[in-house]
Amino acid sequence: MGLPFIVLNYKTYLQGTGQGAVEIAKACKAVSEDSGIEIAVAPQLPDIYRVASEVELPVFSQHLDGIGAGSFTGHIFGKSIKDAGAVGTLINHSEKRLTLAEIEASLKAAKKFGLRSIICTNNVPTTAAAAALGPDYVAIEPPELIGSGIPVSKADPEIVSGSVEAVAKINSQVKVLCGAGISKGEDLRAALDLGSQGVLLASGIVKAADPKAALEDLIRLV
Ligand code: G3P
Repeated sequence: MGLPFIVLNYKTYLQGTGQGAVEIAKACKAVSEDSGIEIAVAPQLPDIYRVASEVELPVFSQHLDGIGAGSFTGHIFGKSIKDAGAVGTLINHSEKRLTLAEIEASLKAAKKFGLRSIICTNNVPTTAAAAALGPDYVAIEPPELIGSGIPVSKADPEIVSGSVEAVAKINSQVKVLCGAGISKGEDLRAALDLGSQGVLLASGIVKAADPKAALEDLIRLV
């Protein structure tokens, strides 16, 4: 298998807000260039333009609404994040859950504007449902392990391998990421050994004293 895809979600962590969003993106770019591993970042919405303008690396939105141009106050419009420099979006993150109909509409909007899509899921059946919609990626993240420092790839390996198997049966074009508690080289290694093609992670890197060193540790067993 090829190199993994790493997606760093900044959530609303202070360290990844404003200028901090740019500094962490620079660390990701340096590690990505040295290793050849694609690393994308998902800063907060108002920081997308700032990060995309200052650092050449893939920038994702943390959310996208399934709406078009018009009367949609407070919604996130695909063209707007695309024009701001985003190349993709998370959909249905555990901290921004959507209904199935909303997930489908968000995915449609992502496709319309040429944005790469990652649908987040919380168990094997929702992973299977998400895969049936045909996103680029599904990201399985058990909510109870998010931010815990306990890696899903070690605490709940079956949910990762079960997701990989379910997706392979439903739509083999869809790639599987996993996340929750991932921060160390052995966590990423275990995730890849379970058949996933990368990880979606946050606190272990964004809140690290030295995000670049934390990223270097993360990829050391790839
Ligand atoms: O989107 C990534 C996420 O929910 C996992 O968070 O802090 O456990 O890496 P964390």
